[in-house]
Amino acid sequence: MLLCGSVSADEPAPAKQQELRNLLKHDCGACHGLQLKGGLGPPLLPEALADKSDVLLLDTIQNGRPGTAMPPWKSFLTVDETNWLIRLLRQP
Ligand code: HEC
Repeated sequence: MLLCGSVSADEPAPAKQQELRNLLKHDCGACHGLQLKGGLGPPLLPEALADKSDVLLLDTIQNGRPGTAMPPWKSFLTVDETNWLIRLLRQP
């Protein structure tokens, strides 16, 4: 990929990336809003996540937040895929 400074080895294959974008829109969007501006769940826009660490977000997405509506996704998303999604969410 040209002009993409930090392509890491754990980057999912292009077809998988498309699948993850769809998941984000449809599954995460069901609670966080189609535009990720918030709904039942809080907004997932870059500004909203700016002060949250990758570790916190990874834990939240993989394990959910017990006692809240946020479900665990670890049976659907690997750690690498989750990290990729977090990078995507942080992109303006
Ligand atoms: C059934 C509803 C629901 C679905 C589906 C859902 N979430 Fe959530 N999510 C929530 C709620 C509610 C919270 C807030 C939990 C709390 O109160 O701490 C949350 C919190 C989060 C947070 C933490 C945000 C913050 O500001 O700390 C992240 C990141 C997140 N969700 C990502 C995702 C991703 C990625 C998906 C899809 C793979 C997803 N969520 C799907 C309901 C949902």
